[in-house]
Amino acid sequence: MQCNMEIVVGDRMAPEAQMIVLFAFLHHLAAFTLVAAIALEFVLLRGELTIWNARRLQVADMVLGTAATILLLVGLARVFWFEKDATYYFHNHAFLTKFALFILMALLSIVPTIEFLSWRKAVEAGQVPVVAAAKLKRVRMIVHIELAAIVLILLFAAMMAKGGWV
Ligand code: HEM
Repeated sequence: MQCNMEIVVGDRMAPEAQMIVLFAFLHHLAAFTLVAAIALEFVLLRGELTIWNARRLQVADMVLGTAATILLLVGLARVFWFEKDATYYFHNHAFLTKFALFILMALLSIVPTIEFLSWRKAVEAGQVPVVAAAKLKRVRMIVHIELAAIVLILLFAAMMAKGGWV
């Protein structure tokens, strides 16, 4: 489906245009939620690990996983149905780089997720999870990398939307 503004009929939006707006909105909502969840994890991991932090890290990670899944589904729907033609995106280096970064981020995020899930028993028992310093350091590093990847994804998103780096 081509995205152009001839889809405004009179002073009302055609159903096609409404879908484009709806999917763009969902994309933004999921993207902002994902960024907020990663930023929260980053802040919570900075200090000493407490039961309070551990609980919030688990919730933030669940939100992150849900937002990433929605973002992927909505993003793919935009690629195939609600924006420029899919061939445009698959021939656009900015999109391919953005997509590769997203997949890399998703794969990396498996490590913190497994770690936070392994804290379940301790947290339910009201105890601070016992985590080796090296493990915690690795989780912090991954969350750092995820934040950096987000900045790059935003750059490539702007480039692909405006027809850059084809
Ligand atoms: C952390 C992940 C992501 C962030 C922060 C992000 C952010 C953005 C931003 C800021 C835009 C430009 C505004 C707009 O048109 O909505 C955009 C557009 C778009 N994104 Fe994403 N995005 C992410 C993931 C994805 C993924 C995984 C896909 C596809 C599988 C995707 C597909 C698209 C498409 C098709 C557009 C419309 C571009 C156009 O106007 O031609 N995005 N994204």
